[in-house]
Amino acid sequence: MSSYYLSTPIYYVNDLPHLGHIYTTVIADTVARYQRLRGQEVFYLTGTDEHGQNIQRAANRQGIEPIQLANRVVSRYHDLWSVLNISHNDFIRTTEPRHRRGVEALIARIEAAGDLYTANHDGWYCSSCESFYTEKEIGNEKLCPVHGSTTEWQSEENVFFRLSEYQQPLLDWLDSNPKAVQPVGRLNEVRSFIESGLRDLSVSRADLKWGIPFPGHPGQTIYVWLDALTNYVSALGLGAEGDEKALYDTFWNPDGGVRLHIVGKDILRFHAIYWPAFLLSAGLPLPTTVWAHGWWLRDEKKMSKSIGNVVRPDALIRDFGADSLRFYLLREMVFGQDAQFSDEAFVDRFNSDLANDLGNTVSRVVTLSRRAFDGCTPPESCFDNPLVLAAREAIEGYRAGMDELAFDRALRSLWGLLAETNQYLVAREPWRLIKSPEQSAALSRVLWNGLEAVRIVATALLPCMPELAPQVLKAVGAEGVPADFSSLSWGLTPTGVELPKSVGLFPRIDKGSYLAEIGGDKPRVAIVDRVEKASMSEPRTQPGKDSTGEPGKAPDTPPEPVVDAPRISIGDFFKTQLKVGTVISAEAIPKSNKLLKLQVDLGTETRTVVAGIAKSHEVGDLVGRQVVVVANLEPAKLMGVESQGMVLAASIDGEAVLLHPARTVPNGSPVK
Ligand code: ME8
Ligand code: MG
Repeated sequence: MSSYYLSTPIYYVNDLPHLGHIYTTVIADTVARYQRLRGQEVFYLTGTDEHGQNIQRAANRQGIEPIQLANRVVSRYHDLWSVLNISHNDFIRTTEPRHRRGVEALIARIEAAGDLYTANHDGWYCSSCESFYTEKEIGNEKLCPVHGSTTEWQSEENVFFRLSEYQQPLLDWLDSNPKAVQPVGRLNEVRSFIESGLRDLSVSRADLKWGIPFPGHPGQTIYVWLDALTNYVSALGLGAEGDEKALYDTFWNPDGGVRLHIVGKDILRFHAIYWPAFLLSAGLPLPTTVWAHGWWLRDEKKMSKSIGNVVRPDALIRDFGADSLRFYLLREMVFGQDAQFSDEAFVDRFNSDLANDLGNTVSRVVTLSRRAFDGCTPPESCFDNPLVLAAREAIEGYRAGMDELAFDRALRSLWGLLAETNQYLVAREPWRLIKSPEQSAALSRVLWNGLEAVRIVATALLPCMPELAPQVLKAVGAEGVPADFSSLSWGLTPTGVELPKSVGLFPRIDKGSYLAEIGGDKPRVAIVDRVEKASMSEPRTQPGKDSTGEPGKAPDTPPEPVVDAPRISIGDFFKTQLKVGTVISAEAIPKSNKLLKLQVDLGTETRTVVAGIAKSHEVGDLVGRQVVVVANLEPAKLMGVESQGMVLAASIDGEAVLLHPARTVPNGSPVK
């Protein structure tokens, strides 16, 4: 048994989890479970990144302390990981004392190596990335290459890390460890980034309060990435003594074992360059692999809280179950590439792979077997070669795929066995054999082999679908077979044991009516939930009464007659400056049943806008929506609140229904 350490990124607490965070955590969980079933000693770490400017700003916007914001979001993460059966061994928060102790220990080692110095620092900063970019990277528009948002010029005295000294050592590390960065396309990216020249890295911030003070540099706060990356060893006990350091000694040990960081490609540079450089400087072991996956996209763009096009998991889990979501994520993203999320593809995948290929095969063999053999598995277990061979091939393909984190390939292999099983059943026609008592031996053989093939598939699915795979095993009479990989060999389905009455594991979903019910292939959960409205389940959107505001059925009420206004010139029209912005908070105005107070992010500034939309819009559904703002309106006081603009809305029968762009656009985009 050797040690197998793996981690997800620690997620920022300025937003609730979305499909992207779930993806990384689910694939890491699948690896952790797979390795445990292989008999490895696994330590699976996840957690939250709670310091830094982003979090401080998000908390300020909501008028609460950063730690309050963190606590709220962390509890959402805990709930979600429990619903999804994530089997992490630890959850680290960067606000914990044990983390601070680890960070201080790491910095002490880097300082002792002579790799820190103080100097003036200026550059273009993206606060969403918490990172500086070069002029070349941000172009004339000064936009962040990841988020497309405006970068800010920052200039201050900082502590620097001598990253430039590690250019060659990092290249040497990559040369001697071909698996250090995976997949290979990402390795090439990292290598060329290093080869293009590494500049020293600013590792402190002077104007940041919400973070860990930089040891030995009063007034400086540790740069959030140096802070955050250290979670991977602080959770193990770096900086601790005795027993508290035991996990570190076991799992961050240079002699053998795996130290795997699974991350999205957005943060590859931090993990494959900065983090190894810090570790090299500190004289600590490096990860064995940084594995960077692609992005979940929506409408061709990265799903991201900054863009506001994210898919929230609540409704998917409620409608399809946690394991169906896990399966979809694992199966749909092709190894190393980006993937598009759509509700339609989700339903298709569910119906074809789970309801049809898996569910129907299970119910077919179980129902026939129960009927033919008095509610039991067949009395004999004679092997049928074609399926034995198909199973062997499927297991090999599955293992190869899982070992490389190519989950789509691993699952395709298993589905290959299901397809073979169905062909086998079609060719052997057990539904015909069952009619002739003299064919009982043949029937026993066909159904036993069918059950056995399904048992193999379900055993292999244990890491992917931890709730449903055991149910399938139970359904095929294999409850008593050890649920581990020793059972991945042909021949273990017991003969003559009672089969539970078959239950529909994956009831088919009617795509047409499902999509109609959720309002088409559109985000069907409030695009960005309010952190305060922390609930795991939201009522499903009513058809025709679309709380997401997406185009739905036209309401029955006729529109107000529009009194024709006198003609104006285009010049007159252009006196009105219209801009797109994103609502970042919304609250009712006391004593008004019509007015809401909105904070709208217009890209370069945030405006308070009072809007008469309370009757037609829920406060919780507004946050994250894009709206059109009249940006050059004279400010006006409404119910004691100064409104610095106006949002555009259609007016129907005294109700105001907000207008928004047909797809997400950068905040501040002009409307003309
Ligand atoms: O970057 N597709 O946190 P974060 C796939 N705190 N995965 C996605 C995704 C998408 N559209 N969006 C997010 C941070 N992810 C830092 C990390 S680690 C020391 C500090 C996943 O909340 C993916 O794993 O922005 C990505 O790398 C991570 O969430 C970023 O989460
Ligand atoms: Mg991010």
